[in-house]
Amino acid sequence: MPTLINVRLISRNRRIADPVRRCISTSRSPQPPAFVFDIDGVLLRGETVLEPTRNAFRILHGENVFNRKIPYIFLTNGGGVSEETRCTNLSKQLGFNVPINRYIQSHTILKSVVHRFHDKHVLVLGGRGNTLKSVANSYGFRKVYTPLDILAWNHAIYPFYDLTEQEKLTHRTYKDLSKVKFHAILVFHDPRNWGLDIQVMCDILRGNGSLAEPTSDSSANDVEVIFCNPDLLWKNEWEGPRLGQGGFRKAWEGVWSNVKMGQKDPVVTRFGKPTKETYRFAAEILREVGNELDIELRVGSNDDLGKFGRSASNIYMIGDNPESDIAGANLAWWNSILVHTGVYNPRHRSSLPRSKTPTFEAKDVEEAVRLAIHEEIKFAH
Ligand code: G3P
Ligand code: MG
Repeated sequence: MPTLINVRLISRNRRIADPVRRCISTSRSPQPPAFVFDIDGVLLRGETVLEPTRNAFRILHGENVFNRKIPYIFLTNGGGVSEETRCTNLSKQLGFNVPINRYIQSHTILKSVVHRFHDKHVLVLGGRGNTLKSVANSYGFRKVYTPLDILAWNHAIYPFYDLTEQEKLTHRTYKDLSKVKFHAILVFHDPRNWGLDIQVMCDILRGNGSLAEPTSDSSANDVEVIFCNPDLLWKNEWEGPRLGQGGFRKAWEGVWSNVKMGQKDPVVTRFGKPTKETYRFAAEILREVGNELDIELRVGSNDDLGKFGRSASNIYMIGDNPESDIAGANLAWWNSILVHTGVYNPRHRSSLPRSKTPTFEAKDVEEAVRLAIHEEIKFAH
C-alpha cells in the first residue's frame, strides 16, 4: 500500500477530499497519472527555478510508488524563441534533458496553419529583434516581415521610435513595401513595442492588407489576425502579475475600434491555453509520450464530476492561472491542480467561476505531483 500523503486538498466541492465518497465499485491496478505542466508560475518565476520543481521531477523520473517513469509534457503560453532554443535553456535550468517532442509553446501550434500562408506575405509580432522571423521561416512561412522592417522602410509610419544601430543592422531595408499585400498578422509572442505594433496593425487592416492607404471598400477585410497567447496577466520575479499578450490584444482592440472608420473587422483567431485547439494538440503529444512509456491515458467526460467528484481521466494539468491552465483543462475533461506559486491568489478562491475552478489546489508543483499520484491510487481502489 503506497504511503498516504498528508496533503490538504480542496476539491471542487471546496471541502476536504473524502476518499470514501469517491470509492467506486470496481478496483483495477492503479495507472500512474500523466502530467501537463505549465511553466511560468509553476516551475519557474522568470529565470528562477522554484525549489519544489526539482523534487517533483525526481518523482516523475522514477522515485515513485510505481517505480517507473511517469509521462509528462510542458504546455506554456510563453514563447519568443524557437522550441529548440527554449528546450536547451530549460534543460540547463531544470538539470535534465527536455526533449523537443515534450514541449509546446504558444506559437508551436502555428505549424498547423502554415499550409494556408506559406507563400503569402505575413506580419509577425513579438519577441526580440528578428528572432521570431527566423522561427516563422523554420515553421515554413516564407514571406515574413516585422514592424521594425516596416519602420526601417519608412520611418514616417511611426515617428516616435528610432531604430537602434543594432536594429538597423538586423532589419532589412525593403525598397517599397507599399506594393505588398499582407494576408495575416501573426502575434507569435508578447510584443515589445505596443505603439509601433498597433500602428502597423491598424494601417494594414485599414488598407485591407496594404500599407499604402486605407481601402475605399470598407466591407472588405481579408487579413486574418492570429493571437497565440490569451493571457492578460502572468507571473515573473516581480511581486505583482505582469501584463501579457492578452493585454496587448485588449489595447489593439480599443484603438482599432476607434480608428477603423466603419471598416469591416478582420477575422481574429485565438490559440494558446485555454483554447480547445491547444489542448487537443497537447493531448496528442501526451498520448505519444504515454505510448513510449506504455502508460494508458484515460479520457474524461461530462458526467464524471457527478459520479466521481472529479474527471475519470488520469491526465492532470498543473497550472497557476485559472483563466488559462484550469479553464482549458476543464474544457478538455482533464483533472487540474491549481498551485499557489504564480498568478492565482488563494484569497480569491470564492470569486472563481465553475469553469475556472480546479479539481484540486496545492501549494506548489511537488505537492501537486504527490497529490495526483495519491488520487490515482485511490481512484483505482
Ligand atoms: O508569456 C508567458 C505567459 O503568458 C505565461 O506563460 O508558462 O504560465 O503559460 P505560462
Ligand atoms: Mg503560468
